[in-house]
Amino acid sequence: MPLGTATDLLRKDHRILRRLLAEYGGEGPRPGREKREIYGQLFHELALHGRLEREVLYGALAQRRPADVRNACRRHARIDRILKDLGDLEPDQRSFETGMRALAREVEAHIREEEAETFPAAESVLTARQLEDMAVMVAARRARWNEGEKE
Ligand SMILES: [Fe+2]
Repeated sequence: MPLGTATDLLRKDHRILRRLLAEYGGEGPRPGREKREIYGQLFHELALHGRLEREVLYGALAQRRPADVRNACRRHARIDRILKDLGDLEPDQRSFETGMRALAREVEAHIREEEAETFPAAESVLTARQLEDMAVMVAARRARWNEGEKE
């Protein structure tokens, strides 16, 4: 199956992130172990997604859409900070819930901004060929980093 474009793949990442956040928020009280596990998956997916966007997409857009790229990088930095703070907390602390809600808001805002502005901008200033080549880079890096983490 063809990979499609880089923005197609990054939209797929967004769906994974939304699914994990919905899973976290979906049911009533859940044990700390499960909360920690969903947090771990979110941490992994967000770290990977942020890195892919910064290294592949934003680099390609930096010259022509600097404001979009700056905005997206600021959003990623906020997400990274919340993730790091959450890592220092226990899931049964109230501040963990507050942090997870803040994370959900920032990730949702990130997805909305990119899907409304940054991705359409990329699709208009880059060629189909460039977007397909970038998809190959995104897929290869994702596979390599996932592999690296298992070693
Ligand atoms: Fe994104």
